[in-house]
Amino acid sequence: MKRTHHCGELGLEALGRSVTLIGWIDTLRDHGGIVFVDLRDREGLTQLVLDPGQLGVDLGYLREESVISVSGVVKARPQTTLNEHLKTGAIEVAVSSLTVINRSEPLPFPLEEEKAARVSEDLRLTYRYLDWRRPSQYQRLKLRHQAAKAVRNYLDLAGFLEVELPTLFKSTPEGAREFLVPSRLNPGQFYALSQSPQQYKQMLMVSGIERYYSLARCYRDEDLRADRQPEFTQVDLELSFIDREDIYALIEGLLAKVWQECKGMQIPTPFKRMPYQEAMDRYGVDKPDTRFGLEIKDFSECFRSSAFKLFAGAVEQGGVVKAFNAKGLADLTQGELKALETVAQSLGAKGLAFIEVEKGQWKSPILKFLSQQERDILTQSLSIEDGDRVFFAAAPWERACAILGRIRLEAAELLKARGRITIDPNRYDFLWVVDFPLILQDEKENRYVSAHHPFTAPVEEDKDKLLTAPHTVRGQHYDIVLNGMELGGGSIRIHDPELQRVVFQEVLKIPQATVERDFGYMLRAFHYGAPPHGGIALGFDRLAAVLSGTQSIRDVVAFPKTQKGQDLMVQSPGPVSAHQLRDLYITSTPVSRGG
Ligand code: AMO
Ligand code: AMP
Repeated sequence: MKRTHHCGELGLEALGRSVTLIGWIDTLRDHGGIVFVDLRDREGLTQLVLDPGQLGVDLGYLREESVISVSGVVKARPQTTLNEHLKTGAIEVAVSSLTVINRSEPLPFPLEEEKAARVSEDLRLTYRYLDWRRPSQYQRLKLRHQAAKAVRNYLDLAGFLEVELPTLFKSTPEGAREFLVPSRLNPGQFYALSQSPQQYKQMLMVSGIERYYSLARCYRDEDLRADRQPEFTQVDLELSFIDREDIYALIEGLLAKVWQECKGMQIPTPFKRMPYQEAMDRYGVDKPDTRFGLEIKDFSECFRSSAFKLFAGAVEQGGVVKAFNAKGLADLTQGELKALETVAQSLGAKGLAFIEVEKGQWKSPILKFLSQQERDILTQSLSIEDGDRVFFAAAPWERACAILGRIRLEAAELLKARGRITIDPNRYDFLWVVDFPLILQDEKENRYVSAHHPFTAPVEEDKDKLLTAPHTVRGQHYDIVLNGMELGGGSIRIHDPELQRVVFQEVLKIPQATVERDFGYMLRAFHYGAPPHGGIALGFDRLAAVLSGTQSIRDVVAFPKTQKGQDLMVQSPGPVSAHQLRDLYITSTPVSRGG
């Protein structure tokens, strides 16, 4: 059962050749006795001509998506049936023998691109193996493969060693919720699936490996979204004797290589850099989409002693008044406006004040509170013109940023739908976000938490303030952002055991016994000659999604999980038997809905 050619290969140069092809029946067309088949394999399509009289088989038995093998002779197609869109569009194969290898039943959904695009994702995921037969889908897997190859080649040339690290790790405080795995050999003890190989890769640096990378499988039990899977892949790397600039240059070179290999594009380097504070102030998020304007401005001074008590009051309480001009969005419907208000409220906004400008008139629920001077300042600073709409948030700084950051993105979507913002699909705005705070205040739990993770080193000049003013200390942390998406993040690490202990115990207030239990080995390792080191991890699924122009990483994962964390094809997760649970010393108590 050997083919002589792939289905995407034959052209006029092969006229008269005897060939054997194997593949799936893409389409079947019966032209009054003569049957035309487009035979498909992963490389393309070839037209077959079947004459049932000559073949001596009942072609009525053939079904689309069956696997067949054919032999025959390559012929030129009649002039009128040439297909310029196909590489094989000038020829056809006149079939002299045919074997049906596996007959297909009617499929649960059509594979033609336009029809398949309208099929529910759940159905496509249930029959994922069929979904991958679509050429557009196959191209995504192929692109992902090419990107992985480019990454490996680049890092190999840069002196990196690929080392596989354990995914059966252990539970540690900090970070996302973990998947736990009970240990049969150690009753009552659990592994946790690795959220990232962070601690292992740091240990490799203590081992003197100097340059490590892997395409690491990571597991996080988070709420799932288009850009989040419970298991995903990182391009994970770590280096010794380097500083932040070395990482920036390395990753810029890596991404340039990937874009060159996968898209044939030269992306300009070095990338822009933006301090965290500026990203939050201007875009309201730490992963700004800089492909359009609509920048946020601060009007706290303007409203500090305003007659509008709501704004003046927010400033007096140490908060801010921020606003941005959603240029050209005066014509929102009531429904759209209501939806934006709901989004703002979900982020803790008390309201979403706005000004709408039409025919030189300002319309706004807060118009009566605004002085002429305030109006002048707004007009000038936000370049307000006819057709515009300005949104406000009066709140503590972080919340005001979060609200307007999100409303800015929503407004951009509405403007795109109206054709007032257009973004070139081949535009890639890479950006380093730098100078993050080392730690953040967790308002819910009322304690300090690491902005990145607890192994990140503070900026040298800020180190002295770790105990006196921890929230003002900057971390040596960097994120790589692409078109408003967090593509990756990393940091220079702490390699001094005493500094690491201070961060765990005195800044993050992790009890000493917990530090010893969870990180004791690491603190000890740092006593045996630990080199200065740092690294980064890129979300490889996100990278592959951007390269293939899709929003959802599910589109570039072979067998992804749904929003509910299920694999619909294999029907996982599923129940296990009582004796399996017994072996693992687990008693399962189903919790009723109320409890
Ligand atoms: P971080 O937690 O920022 O850093 O993760 C790095 C990158 O991994 C991707 N990512 C995800 N992709 C898909 N689904 C998910 N659930 C998911 N979670 C994260 C993102 C993110 O930027 N050990 C550190 C890196 C380091 O310091 O070297 C780490 O894991 O693209
Ligand atoms: P009110 O006087 O409470 O009706 O509020 C007047 C306008 O301000 C309404 O459009 C509210 O949605 C809006 N608003 C209320 N609180 C805030 C806030 N903290 N930030 C921005 N707008 C607000």
